[in-house]
Amino acid sequence: MAKAQRIGVYPGSFDPVTNGHMDIITRAAGLVDRLVVGIGINEGKGPLFPLAERVAMLRDEIDHIVAPDAAKRIVIEPFDTLLVQFAARVGANLVIRGLRAVSDFEYEFQMSSLNAHLDPNIETIFLMASDRHQFISSRFIREISKLDGDVSPFVSPRIQTHLKKRFGHS
Ligand code: PNS
Repeated sequence: MAKAQRIGVYPGSFDPVTNGHMDIITRAAGLVDRLVVGIGINEGKGPLFPLAERVAMLRDEIDHIVAPDAAKRIVIEPFDTLLVQFAARVGANLVIRGLRAVSDFEYEFQMSSLNAHLDPNIETIFLMASDRHQFISSRFIREISKLDGDVSPFVSPRIQTHLKKRFGHS
């Protein structure tokens, strides 16, 4: 009998994708047979980048950064439902989130507990952000870029190009 595939979901807004996200994606791909990167559409949050551009940036990053055999096991799918509904739809019972120092703990603890109530079949696992990615957040990347600051330690040159274009910096 064929072994069941382990499918994991890595959800986020990815507005834009950072080196910290890519670290988690690379590591998560090593833990599951298929990784579904779920982009929360969340229009209410007023994203900086339209959905299509967030998808394109993620695909580009994955294809540049992740080894080809792992990259082909990663799919990107937008969702506008509850995370647990999305996970069930793609056949995943594992949700993967990155965790930075103490700042993320309360939010992540609440979210994973609520998701476990909503669907007890879904397990959330956390990967600790690597040392050098502890201070990266998309929110600060957006803020620094808007004011034409240097975000090169936090996002790839490809993402820097998108940010510069978005904010009209040369
Ligand atoms: O990277 P982010 O912005 O922290 O990602 C947040 C995301 C998309 C994972 C979260 O907003 C989410 O799960 N949205 C789907 C709606 C949902 O399930 N809400 C209840 C969570 S308890």
